[in-house]
Amino acid sequence: MASGVSLVILAAGKGTRMKSALPKVLHPLCGRSMLGWVMQSALDVDPDKVVIVVGHGAKKVQAEAEKEAAELGLRGLGIVVQEQQNGTGHAVQVAASALGDSPEIVLVLAGDMPLIRGESLVELVRAQKELGSDSMVVLTAELDDPHGYGRILRDGDGAVNGIVEQKDATPEQLDICETNTGVYAFAGRRLLADLPRLGTANAQGEYYLTDMVGLAVDDRRPVVTVVLGDAFEGSGVNDLRQLAVVRQEMQFRILDDHMAAGVAVTDPGSAYVDHGVTIGEGTTLLPCVMIHRGVQIGKGCEVGPFTQLRPGTVMKDGAQVGNFTECKNSVIGEGSKAKHLSYLGDAKIGRKTNVGAGTIFANYDGTHKHPTHVGHGVSIGSGSIIVAPNELPDGVTTGAGAVLTRAAKIQEGETWVGLPAKALPKKNN
Ligand code: UD1
Ligand code: MG
Repeated sequence: MASGVSLVILAAGKGTRMKSALPKVLHPLCGRSMLGWVMQSALDVDPDKVVIVVGHGAKKVQAEAEKEAAELGLRGLGIVVQEQQNGTGHAVQVAASALGDSPEIVLVLAGDMPLIRGESLVELVRAQKELGSDSMVVLTAELDDPHGYGRILRDGDGAVNGIVEQKDATPEQLDICETNTGVYAFAGRRLLADLPRLGTANAQGEYYLTDMVGLAVDDRRPVVTVVLGDAFEGSGVNDLRQLAVVRQEMQFRILDDHMAAGVAVTDPGSAYVDHGVTIGEGTTLLPCVMIHRGVQIGKGCEVGPFTQLRPGTVMKDGAQVGNFTECKNSVIGEGSKAKHLSYLGDAKIGRKTNVGAGTIFANYDGTHKHPTHVGHGVSIGSGSIIVAPNELPDGVTTGAGAVLTRAAKIQEGETWVGLPAKALPKKNN
């Protein structure tokens, strides 16, 4: 069913203040781009159309938008190119062609505000629907330090009568702590009618979308604000310092969800867990862990301290990995352990196997990556090097410092020692 909401995401800006070759909205936080986070929140308003305005790094931004839309199941994606970035108002003018003749509600937001929550967008749309056909709703935030943001101007009765940008503000206006988040819900037809009225008489010589407020006030049409309960949601990222602050908040949200689901996080300040990681109940994350998107961790596991789990890692229930161990594209079976100074790459490890301190799965021959299969109840001695491809069947033991050359033809239950390792002769009795 149509929701009547068309969404416009502004993502054409160069992001000059990021001082980075990567287009601003593609900067990652917690395993997903800023744009991806904004698109996920947009899902909550169930938009009929999602128009993304691209410009700087257009091809890359378009590719990311298409990938995220497909993953999220976001329908009605349209991409418009803003060749020259003449301001947020200009960006929406460019988007207008993709909105059709009479969109009911147009929700505009920027691709550089990853903390925005879906519920806040829903509230904004609800407020616009209640107010009706000529209205405009602005999402605002009360900030202790409003520096850099547009300020909300109000008259003696408290009614909104404008938004002034940092660069255009008088010293008195700079003292205002209510800021513009850059998220607006417009009556669609009114927006389309007003866009051509925007001008460029401001410090930056740009078409400011914020001037829509002044136009509405001049016409005596209602402009209403919705104030964010959690001002953090309105954070716009313009430089790498702000990205780091916002990343920390996003990280806390991710960890908070895991903790609520029964995962113990000893030190939330040093647990780096991407979005899209599954962790079972009763698992503990010890300090200094880095866990990438898509990693799956079972119940009752222990991860860390000082552990990196890279993409493709699966830890089955009760597995333990810690103390300077790195895993990539590897399965650690139920109750198996790799607890000290090891590298597990392209390894499939069975149940109740112990990977001794300092073990290396040498998966890369300089050209190709190769797999290693390790069975159940295997005991790998400290400092073993297992050159892939290889297979260590159930019950195998390797001695400390063993070097297993590739495809060593190890049989079930054998013990291998030495450098390079060879089969021990069987005892006579
Ligand atoms: C904007 C608002 C400001 C608000 C702040 C919230 C205006 C004039 N100012 O300022 O009131 O407090 O956001 O974070 O709207 N973009 C384009 N095309 C352009 C220019 C910008 O697509 O020509 C996109 C950018 O990629 C970005 C977004 O619009 O995603 C906002 O632009 P940005 O330059 O970050 O605006 P701010 O200075 O943060
Ligand atoms: Mg911004």
